[in-house]
Amino acid sequence: MTSPALSLSGSASIGGEQVFAPLVFTVPAGQWTCLLGPSGVGKSTILRLFAGLDDGITFDGQITTSNDLPFKGRVSLMAQSDLLMPWLDLPENVCLGARLRGESADLTRACHLLTQVGLSDHLDKRPTALSGGQRQRVALARTLMEDRPIVLLDEPFSALDAKSRAQMQNLAADLLTGRTVLHVTHDTAEAARLADQVLLMGANGITCPTPPQTHPPRAFDAPETQGFDGYLLRLMLEAT
Ligand SMILES: Nc1ncnc2c1ncn2[C@@H]1O[C@H](COP(=O)(O)OP(=O)(O)O)[C@@H](O)[C@H]1O
Ligand SMILES: [Mg+2]
Repeated sequence: MTSPALSLSGSASIGGEQVFAPLVFTVPAGQWTCLLGPSGVGKSTILRLFAGLDDGITFDGQITTSNDLPFKGRVSLMAQSDLLMPWLDLPENVCLGARLRGESADLTRACHLLTQVGLSDHLDKRPTALSGGQRQRVALARTLMEDRPIVLLDEPFSALDAKSRAQMQNLAADLLTGRTVLHVTHDTAEAARLADQVLLMGANGITCPTPPQTHPPRAFDAPETQGFDGYLLRLMLEAT
């Protein structure tokens, strides 16, 4: 599986209102990039553009992959809302992509992933019987099930308690090794643990603060992780 670099150069508007002014950035191939920035700055819009879910977005510019192959069929997006189907049980929800494409569903693998995200006791439940954090773990399993070279994660751990969040960060970092990951998060500590590269998006464009040299996922209590977390927070505060 070849995971390409992604590049975006351009501006976007929705309903005649500018979402972001001209930006240029690259998401390195096979690495984990965290995209940080205040609410409303356009982070989810960027993920939708890379995912090809650009209905209603007017984009003026270019979105490319380093190997010039199309995005279609090579991207999975974990959206900010979990988009679980209330009438399907958990394995069927995890297999939804295959079903929608008319492919046979690998329910064994879906159950294995649900076990890895800690939901083995809930396999026969419907999403309405789950907590917000459990639903988010189902959505993560569904994204991992897609097994794509480009993975877009929109605040994937936001509903999780601290312990589950650390566990799911470790699992995602492990299972997505070598993929090109673009991960939107509000959490500077999360970016400090996971990022090979950080993109910090503000009203005046994007900057790339350099993460510690150590390999992610970093220990949450390592001095370099905590120092970079504090540095990112300071940059975000200074930008407002
Ligand atoms: N469907 C929509 N209709 C109108 N405006 C929208 C829509 N989706 C997003 N926007 C606007 O685009 C801007 C960026 O939104 P979004 O990309 O969701 O921001 P972020 O993910 O950084 O919080 C916001 O000002 C938001 O109000
Ligand atoms: Mg968003």
